[in-house]
Amino acid sequence: MICGSKTKSYLKSQNLKILGQGKLNGIVKISGAKNSALVLLASSLLTNEKIILENVPFLTDIEKMGNILKNLGVNLVRKNNQLEIDPTTISIKELPYELVKGLRASFFCIGALLTKFGEAQVPLPGGCNIGSRPIDEHINGLIALGADIVIEEGIVKAKTRGNKNRLHGTHIKLNCPSVGATETLIMAASLAKGRTTIKNAAREPEVQDLCQMLNKMGAKIYDSGKETIIIDGVNKLGGCTHKVIPDRIEAGTFLIAAAATSSSITISPVIPHHLEAVTDKLQESGSKITIKGNSISIKSKEIKGVDIETAPFPGFPTDLQAPFTTLMTIANGESKITETIFENRMNHIYLLNEMGASIKLNKNVAHIKGVKRINGMNLVGSDLRSSAALIIAGIIAKGSSNFYGLEHLDRGYENFELKLKNLGVKIIREISKKTFEENGYKIDPRSDKISKLEAA
Ligand code: UD1
Repeated sequence: MICGSKTKSYLKSQNLKILGQGKLNGIVKISGAKNSALVLLASSLLTNEKIILENVPFLTDIEKMGNILKNLGVNLVRKNNQLEIDPTTISIKELPYELVKGLRASFFCIGALLTKFGEAQVPLPGGCNIGSRPIDEHINGLIALGADIVIEEGIVKAKTRGNKNRLHGTHIKLNCPSVGATETLIMAASLAKGRTTIKNAAREPEVQDLCQMLNKMGAKIYDSGKETIIIDGVNKLGGCTHKVIPDRIEAGTFLIAAAATSSSITISPVIPHHLEAVTDKLQESGSKITIKGNSISIKSKEIKGVDIETAPFPGFPTDLQAPFTTLMTIANGESKITETIFENRMNHIYLLNEMGASIKLNKNVAHIKGVKRINGMNLVGSDLRSSAALIIAGIIAKGSSNFYGLEHLDRGYENFELKLKNLGVKIIREISKKTFEENGYKIDPRSDKISKLEAA
């Protein structure tokens, strides 16, 4: 089970004011992938030489990961979307909980630190116990690579076993193709002695991006993007220049927003085959998709109800399940949305129903009967991707909406409202001196029970 956040920091005074029944028109520039950039930053811990990372989005999650590196002594200089990472003065120490909390990807540093320094101490992500936010695949894989691991007071303490100062290559079979565990173990194996094979590895583009960058640094990684990845450990990794791949989740969010508003837009740059599962579903639901080089254009008029089931890449991404659910609320006919990756990723359903949607939720399956229209209201985002889903709902709704909980959105979408504004959506960020509660809005009593999904 995914753990609930103990903070109420989402009661912030910033909100987005959205005028509904909007249309989108024009071209959107897609930013670098958040999930790639996060793990590429972690992988810079593996070298003592300079890394230049290009196309890094401005996001609070990236800032948090940057602060973790800085805490370890890494020097970071940002020039627009380029990050110069200089790890020459890096030293090993325990990562403070204040820096890692709320950023699940911070845990991915453990593999890099352990393999480079022979030891690592990283707090459990979110401060939750191992049962509620599993990291068992990371831990079991590191143990197989020759680590001794204990978890004491929420801190994972890892050390290379015996007198050895290096991990050793081994065969690992993951029980589920976890993206984070695959990344942690690839980083750990890259400096281990000998060959490691990871079976049932995640095939996500972000994993492939990591392998490409590590190979530029001198690693020997074969078959990334396939179910079995082979890593021949090397003694040392060097510096490199690497450009982060475009964010397929941001790209998919804009395509879905265009479909939901019967609009025509072009998104670029993208790697179209990263989005195939999404463009296939959009076509099935009535949109016309045209791919030219690194751009995708969408022209939408009708919305037919279609079923989706989330799956590891190349299946339909769990991170786009919430926005696609919003699209289906106003589809002609019925649809069934099945979430298979995370057990509690339906936080958006309650508010969509309050807006007038007709969704019945049965565990992780949402049965949707398309309605003619939904209505604007005050909305609170409770996780990153459901925030995007609710903003799209605000854009298609009749009337206006105020959207709160922007700290979730700001974690993962670079200049989201500005990009929407440039496409013609009437949306502004308001900064109020009062908090959400002081403004007289009530939080749905169930929101305390809503789990925060920081994974995305
Ligand atoms: C990454 C992405 C996130 C995306 C997710 C699935 C980043 C920073 N985040 O998260 O946006 O939604 O992949 O595509 O890259 N699991 C275990 N044991 C483990 C690890 C995971 O049981 O040790 C389970 C999880 O509970 C979940 C499933 O595996 O049910 C997938 O999780 P995982 O692929 O690890 O997601 P993240 O890497 O955290």
